[in-house]
Amino acid sequence: MVYNFNIVGLFILFEGVEGSGKSTQARALRRRLSGSGFPVLLVKEPGGTAVGDKVGRLLKHGLEIGIYSLTELLLFNASRAQLVAEVIRPALDQNYIVISDRYTESTLAYQGYGRGLDLETIETINNIATGGLRPDLIVLLDMEVKGGLRRKGRAAARDRFEREDIAFHQRVRQGYLEMANAYPERWLLIDAAQPGKKMGELIWERVQQSLPALTDARQNSYNSHG
Ligand code: TYD
Repeated sequence: MVYNFNIVGLFILFEGVEGSGKSTQARALRRRLSGSGFPVLLVKEPGGTAVGDKVGRLLKHGLEIGIYSLTELLLFNASRAQLVAEVIRPALDQNYIVISDRYTESTLAYQGYGRGLDLETIETINNIATGGLRPDLIVLLDMEVKGGLRRKGRAAARDRFEREDIAFHQRVRQGYLEMANAYPERWLLIDAAQPGKKMGELIWERVQQSLPALTDARQNSYNSHG
C-alpha cells in the first residue's frame, strides 16, 4: 500500500481493564507503524511528563494517603493537561501518529462508572484538560475482569486500582462496553481472550484501512465528543 505521508497526524487510543494486554498491543502497533515509515509516538497515562510521573505515582502508589474521588478526577486530568500541552499536541502538529495507552475514556470508565462520579462533570473536566482533543480511534481490549487481575499477581504488590474489588472492575468494564457500543464508528472492540498475534492483526487491519478516513473525520470533529 502507498501512503500519503502528508495526511497523517492521527491520535489512536488503547483502553481496557487491568491486565487486558493493551500496553503490549500499543507497542506492537507502534512497531508496525514505524516499520511502515510513519513518525509515531507512544505515550502512557498517567505520566509522560515530569509532573505527570509524580502525580501518577501518587495516584497509584500513595496507598497511605486518602484521596477523594473528585481529587482523583482532578489529578488524572492535571497529569493529562500537561501531557497534551507538552507532548501530544506538539507531536500531532508535526504530523506524528500518537498512540496513547489510556486517556479520557479511562477517567470516564474508572472515575465515572467505577467510582460513581457524574459522567457529564467528568466530560467537562476532561475537555478542559485536553482543550477538546479527542482520539480518532479508540481500541478497546475487552475481557472478563478476573482473568486480567490474576495477571497482576500478589495482592500485596498491587496498586490502588488493582486492589479495588471485582465489582468495581466489572463496572469499569461495563462502562467501556457502553461507550464502545454507543459510538461504534470511533471504537474498535477487540476480544482480548484471543491470542495476541490475532489481536495485532485485527488492530492493524483497522488502522491501515482507516488512515485517510480518520484524518478527514478529525477535521470535522476535532472539538466534538463521540
Ligand atoms: P498503570 O499500572 O499505569 O496502567 P495500566 O493498568 O494501564 O497498565 O495504572 C494506571 C491506573 O490508573 C489503572 O488502574 C487505571 C487508572 N486510571 C484511572 O483510574 N483514571 C484515569 O483517568 C487513568 C488515565 C488511569
